[in-house]
Amino acid sequence: MMKTKPKVVSVVGARPQFIKLALLAKELSKRFRHLIVHTGQHFDDNMSDIFFRQLRIPRPLVNLNVAGGTHGAMTGRMLVRVEKVLLKEKPDLVLVYGDTNSTLAGALAAAKLSVPVGHVEAGMRSFVANMPEEINRKLTDHVCQILFCPTPVSVKNLKAEGIRKKIVHSGDVMYELLDISRQMIRTNRKALTRLGIKETRFLLLTVHRAATVDNEASIRQLVDCIKELPHPTLFPVHPRTRKRLKQFKLWNELKRVDRLILTEPLGYLDMLTATFYARAVLTDSGGLQKEALFLGTPVLTLREETEWLETLKLGNRLVGLNKGTIVSVLGEKLTVKPIAYRVKNKKPSRIIVEEVTKLLSLRGR
Ligand code: UD1
Repeated sequence: MMKTKPKVVSVVGARPQFIKLALLAKELSKRFRHLIVHTGQHFDDNMSDIFFRQLRIPRPLVNLNVAGGTHGAMTGRMLVRVEKVLLKEKPDLVLVYGDTNSTLAGALAAAKLSVPVGHVEAGMRSFVANMPEEINRKLTDHVCQILFCPTPVSVKNLKAEGIRKKIVHSGDVMYELLDISRQMIRTNRKALTRLGIKETRFLLLTVHRAATVDNEASIRQLVDCIKELPHPTLFPVHPRTRKRLKQFKLWNELKRVDRLILTEPLGYLDMLTATFYARAVLTDSGGLQKEALFLGTPVLTLREETEWLETLKLGNRLVGLNKGTIVSVLGEKLTVKPIAYRVKNKKPSRIIVEEVTKLLSLRGR
């Protein structure tokens, strides 16, 4: 009798996870029965479905419809619902991605059922202990059987925490996807006109972190910085940020800022085209920091720290929400050193699938 293929479940729920999943979903389905569980954390079309469509990710087996609420409530509801799916599907391995509440809930649900867990983008640390993403990263890494690290620094971080499980330097699946999309990113230039960009010297701005937008003083500071920006600026507004801007009565003030283009969140390709053609990117996003550098675009990180430490040597500038620093850095001649997050010329998605195959065959699957 033919042996059935091992079953792998990917738990995802937030925008950056769909991007990390895209190429892996294709590779995984060649060797395994691969099922996608969507927690529902991100639910707007332009935060979720658009990525499934544009990146041709197979439809999730189920959407658990858990969104919003406090961290405890959200993670708790996810934990209950993911566990139910895992009990029914009995996977041989669960994969989780990045550092969101969906990552932690997926990892914890699987680990408590003694299902091996793999973490894609393991070992990232900002060393800010109370940042929600840092808590998610650390707890997730410590319950995994196999850890896929995008960079040598992330490997070192895990070793320094005494993690003795299988640590694999796989390279970065986000780099891999961007790298094969370069041609499309360049030729998609017409998207800029569609977005209302008329000049070549424009800036791209994104913010969504709790630390930047949830607190009235810091979001006020952000608005003050935006008013000082010396070039036209494209600002795709994350739903969390929009909500807070309205709550703190800053939305109308922002709408009146000259040369500021406010848009809905963008899809993958348009976002990277804007990143590629921008004079500089200003962001508090972990993913966009590195994507800007992959594309050779200078990046100003609107935080005091970054989990992508090595990027500080390559042109990533930590500017916080200090308008004086931002204006002064933007006045400099900014340069970027090329960066490639992969191991030799190997595809990160392939390394991950090979290592999962090895792990499962060792476990008799
Ligand atoms: C989450 C992740 C963060 C990741 C980011 C990417 C955690 C702790 N944080 O932050 O690591 O970088 O996603 O975007 O998991 N909302 C909508 N529509 C949506 C999605 C969210 O209206 O499609 C609303 C939610 O209801 C909520 C707010 O936006 O009120 C924030 O969403 P949430 O998922 O809590 O966190 P993010 O800020 O997106």
